[in-house]
Amino acid sequence: SRVEVGGFSDFMSKEIDEQPRSLRDTLAGRVDQEGRISLDELNITQEELKTIQKVVIVGCGTSLHAGMVARYALEHFVRVPVEIDVSSEFRYRDPVLSPTTLVVGVSQSGETLDTMVALSEAKASGAKTLVVSNVVGSSMARMADAVLYTRAGPEISVASTKTFIAQIGALEILALYLADLKRTLYPSEVNELIGRLNAVPEAISVALSQIKEYERVAQRLLGYDRFYFIGRNVGYPVALEGALKLKEITYTPSEGYPAGELKHGPIAMIDEQAVVVAIAPKGALYEKVLANVEEVRARGAKVVLVVNEMPAGHMASDDDVFLVPQVHQLFSPMVDVVPLQVLAHYTSVARGLDPDRPRNLAKTVTVE
Ligand code: G6P
Repeated sequence: SRVEVGGFSDFMSKEIDEQPRSLRDTLAGRVDQEGRISLDELNITQEELKTIQKVVIVGCGTSLHAGMVARYALEHFVRVPVEIDVSSEFRYRDPVLSPTTLVVGVSQSGETLDTMVALSEAKASGAKTLVVSNVVGSSMARMADAVLYTRAGPEISVASTKTFIAQIGALEILALYLADLKRTLYPSEVNELIGRLNAVPEAISVALSQIKEYERVAQRLLGYDRFYFIGRNVGYPVALEGALKLKEITYTPSEGYPAGELKHGPIAMIDEQAVVVAIAPKGALYEKVLANVEEVRARGAKVVLVVNEMPAGHMASDDDVFLVPQVHQLFSPMVDVVPLQVLAHYTSVARGLDPDRPRNLAKTVTVE
């Protein structure tokens, strides 16, 4: 009994379609005439932020993956060490925190209990806390020292899509804000990067215009047993997110792996029934990911590449390709995840499942 929503067959496809606007709205109004970034509700002084020595990001599910993406930008642009942890692990591991630690909770709902407790314990230990939330006035937004809202609008589908992209956008703004404050980037570099970030919503629109092509690829994958998503650097959390989406709404065994770890275990699972989806945006590690693809192709896997152009000389005749526009490499997850969302959604509908209401899952988990 799937619903008809605004011309879409379900909320998930509607929310996938809304992604360019979710990101545009999240970025809008955060940069003034002089190119200065402003954040929403920041009860931490600029002096305090300048003293931050370590950032710890916590979250669950898709929000955790958004945090993992942001780690690369925070370390690269701000030169501050970043730890990332699953909220339910963080709170029980006696973490080392101090007033110069910034603990960032990422939570669409702002109500996930494990993330909320992680933040409140961090705050009690004297660390500064910031939450990235999609819900104004949510429990976490009221509790944290600072809030950075994503402006994705309500997300109904259990599997997160548009809030993932908006969370990454908000966290990239935070990274550029800190880089500006700490002067780890020149103001001109910050401006240039803001321009590159503002180009991402249009790149997502271009990716969305390829949905029919993505679905043709997804259709050819319907008969396979198992999926392995691989990537390096920011492609690694994209791989985790691709696998999570597919398992959440299609119940297909799927794993995400750093491409370099394949040979330490998962490659033993590769056979003709396995699909390997490799996230390979242009950049320093492009050739390395394609070399990992060679290893699985030689063992019979069906290969699907997420790339910015056809990789001439690196393809076999039965490989499939999800073409996506190229953006700044650190921002590429917001574009590269789109075909993986479409793959999961198409597979779910093709199997007669309801993508909006996966079995056993809740949109917001307010119990431990
Ligand atoms: C549940 C949802 C996921 C979501 C996660 C974290 O598991 O099914 O889609 O990513 O909670 O939720 P939050 O609201 O904290 O982002």
